[in-house]
Amino acid sequence: MERFVVTGGSRLTGQVLVPGAKNSVLKLMAASLLAPGTTTLSAVPDILDVGVMADVLTALGATVRRDLAAGSIAIDTPAMPGAAADPALVRRIRASVAILGPLVGRRGEARVALPGGDAIGSRALDMHVNGLRRLGAVVDIEDGALVARSSGRLQGAAIWLDFPSVGATENLLMAGAVAKGTTVIDNAAREPEIADLCEFLTEMGAGIEGIGGSTLVIEGVDELRPVTHETVPDRIVAGTYAIGAVMTRGDVMIRNGRAEHLGIVLEKLTAAGASVETGADGFRVSIQDQPRSIDVVTLPYPGFPTDLLPQIIALEAVSQGISLITENVFDSRFVFCRELLRMGAQLRTDGHHVVVRPASRLVGASVVASDVRAGAGLVLAGLVAEGMTEVHEVHHIDRGYAGFVENMRALGADIRRDQVTAAA
Ligand code: EPU
Repeated sequence: MERFVVTGGSRLTGQVLVPGAKNSVLKLMAASLLAPGTTTLSAVPDILDVGVMADVLTALGATVRRDLAAGSIAIDTPAMPGAAADPALVRRIRASVAILGPLVGRRGEARVALPGGDAIGSRALDMHVNGLRRLGAVVDIEDGALVARSSGRLQGAAIWLDFPSVGATENLLMAGAVAKGTTVIDNAAREPEIADLCEFLTEMGAGIEGIGGSTLVIEGVDELRPVTHETVPDRIVAGTYAIGAVMTRGDVMIRNGRAEHLGIVLEKLTAAGASVETGADGFRVSIQDQPRSIDVVTLPYPGFPTDLLPQIIALEAVSQGISLITENVFDSRFVFCRELLRMGAQLRTDGHHVVVRPASRLVGASVVASDVRAGAGLVLAGLVAEGMTEVHEVHHIDRGYAGFVENMRALGADIRRDQVTAAA
């Protein structure tokens, strides 16, 4: 078991390079199942989840070659991939549910164990299931797995989502891309990672209108071709470093960060007193004084991202004034607050709200990362806490942040990774 040991008191200064987005590349990898031949992805982050998704695809018959130095991955998809994903792998990452749409669309059958991932809520799959049924698939649960079957080609249909679910939109986009006729997804998710997937599918030969909007019109085609594609930069990684800069009263150039994908986040950081300068190669965030408190409400894109919720709560814990934060996407994201309380934060949760009052100081403690973003939030809190913070279960952070310790050290943080000994 490994942990991060953070000693507070440093300002983050300098520059950091943002890699491709975890929540895009995993779906692009799944979408490679739609086209026999070699799909090549670049700007692939060096994170654990990419390795797990590569193993999922390999178990389905693909040959995956990853070039860590180049940040690329080549996936050679067979003419007829397997239909059943390895349950042990699927349970490790939620994103593996993204193979459902491509497999049922392309080969008429998909079996995916009910997926795992972060413990941040109940995370139902009803919209995935109902949407695939609208396209003509028969979907059942058998032995703890979702099984989708289609006797012929899926048929394009109109689908209204109850909520702009990222995962459901992606599965239905991929299934619709090879369905017969037109599929319309209404109330679709609008995240930049969805637009990236739409562009990828378009390059592969599908016809998609409305990219970036909440109504997507997909013209299915008989066959898609493999392509080479660069993954969109990770806005959550960029946002995490930006919040870290503000918390530590630092000055960080976030290279390859797309300010336009972080509109409301950068607006909030500006309201907190930071200055944000956008350039051709990214954006720079700096602040000298103690940040002012801000209120935040998470919502699907272009709302404030739930994946920056722990980081923003950590910021509010050291800001001047009282902040009200509302989480609308996941039902258990506040488990993170328990750990922050151990560090002396003054906060109180009530349903899906948390009130954060200014703490005179945060103090180092031994805390546990319950998911990837909670882990990042705890590291940020450690940067401004007095003394030493030990963050445990850092495999969660490694799922989504490439070279987090190295990048933080390059920005001036006092952080190291070490093994937890039996006595620790
Ligand atoms: N939901 C349903 N039914 C469904 C689908 C979703 O009730 O059929 C609910 C979920 O339970 C949740 C909400 O709708 O309460 C949002 O779920 P959504 O489908 O939008 O999220 P997701 O696809 O499971 C992705 C990211 C998450 C990110 C969310 C929201 C991946 C692998 N995961 O999850 O990322 O928080 O979208 O933006 O893309 C992370 O990276 O830390 C992470 C958790």
